[in-house]
Amino acid sequence: MAELSLYFESQNGAGPPDNSDTEDEEYERGELTYNERITSKGLPTCAGCHGIDGKGIQEAEIPNISNFRRPYIEIQLKNFRSGKRRNDPNQLMKHVTEGLTDDEISDLSLYINEMQ
Ligand code: HEC
Repeated sequence: MAELSLYFESQNGAGPPDNSDTEDEEYERGELTYNERITSKGLPTCAGCHGIDGKGIQEAEIPNISNFRRPYIEIQLKNFRSGKRRNDPNQLMKHVTEGLTDDEISDLSLYINEMQ
């Protein structure tokens, strides 16, 4: 974590506006999106399926995502969104990721990464 904080500190004020967000800001936005944002009509929030702790629901085949690393999560979410990954039952993850921007996916992946 120390390395990442250093990276973000060194980014402050430099580069495009998106990169100047602090990690805390990204974490807070990720938390809000994960727990409160309904991304798709008729489907619950991320927390509604994966749980507030990200542990999922084994009986319902909803995976535990709390152990994944940020880059992995980000790639999976983008692959669901683009339709590249389509092994999700009833395209559930496609529907929930469809409305997400790249920034929202980035914030979410930081938040989920911190769950473990
Ligand atoms: C309606 C229930 C539901 C909702 C809502 C939902 N998910 Fe999922 N999610 C699933 C299921 C089911 C899978 C397993 C899909 C598969 O096997 O490919 C999954 C898979 C994933 C994976 C990939 C895990 C892996 O093993 O590679 C990630 C990451 C993920 N979800 C994150 C999220 C995030 C972030 C949100 C909110 C934007 C969200 N999910 C909302 C049901 C849900």
